[in-house]
Amino acid sequence: MSVLNCRASASAMVALATLVIVGCTGSSGAGAAAGNTTEAYVPGLGELMSLQQMRHIKLWFAGQAQNWPLATYEIDELGEGFDDVVGFHPTLGNRPVAPRDLVPELVVEPLDSLRAAADRGDSKSFDAAFDALTSACNDCHQAMEFGFNRVQRPTSNPYANQVFTPGQ
Ligand code: HEC
Repeated sequence: MSVLNCRASASAMVALATLVIVGCTGSSGAGAAAGNTTEAYVPGLGELMSLQQMRHIKLWFAGQAQNWPLATYEIDELGEGFDDVVGFHPTLGNRPVAPRDLVPELVVEPLDSLRAAADRGDSKSFDAAFDALTSACNDCHQAMEFGFNRVQRPTSNPYANQVFTPGQ
């Protein structure tokens, strides 16, 4: 590439970067309306739940494949997801019950049992603990007046591009 071409593409890149910056800071979100363009993104509770749903599915198939490292990973991810639920949404509207109380009340114990079962490689306890977690998910939905969101043991695996069998 000649020096001239190089200069031309460098200035094109600067122009592009400027466009990207202008495009991002010129957004019309709530932050921009408030004159605050650095306002942090706050994931909605429904969005966090969709991630929990994914992890709940993957956890089941990891356990069925006796892939205990993967199962433990998904248990940890679920735990972090619930930390985010409590951190971002300690309460919800003016409901009398709140995620900051319901999460420790309902999901901490089943997650601990799942971790213990995965540590021991105990499929039977894993399945029982998974069902207890699923009930806890539904109990919280019920308590928060979202009882129509019911979860269950997954019946098929939508993640065809991920390997669930234990590897090296
Ligand atoms: C703190 C109580 C609580 C716990 C525990 C909880 N959920 Fe939820 N979940 C909610 C609430 C509240 C909503 C509705 C959120 C909204 O849309 O604003 C919800 C919504 C959902 C949805 C619907 C999301 C969508 O957009 O379609 C799914 C799926 C879901 N939860 C799965 C789970 C799973 C799986 C677990 C357990 C691993 C779980 N939830 C545990 C409170 C909880």
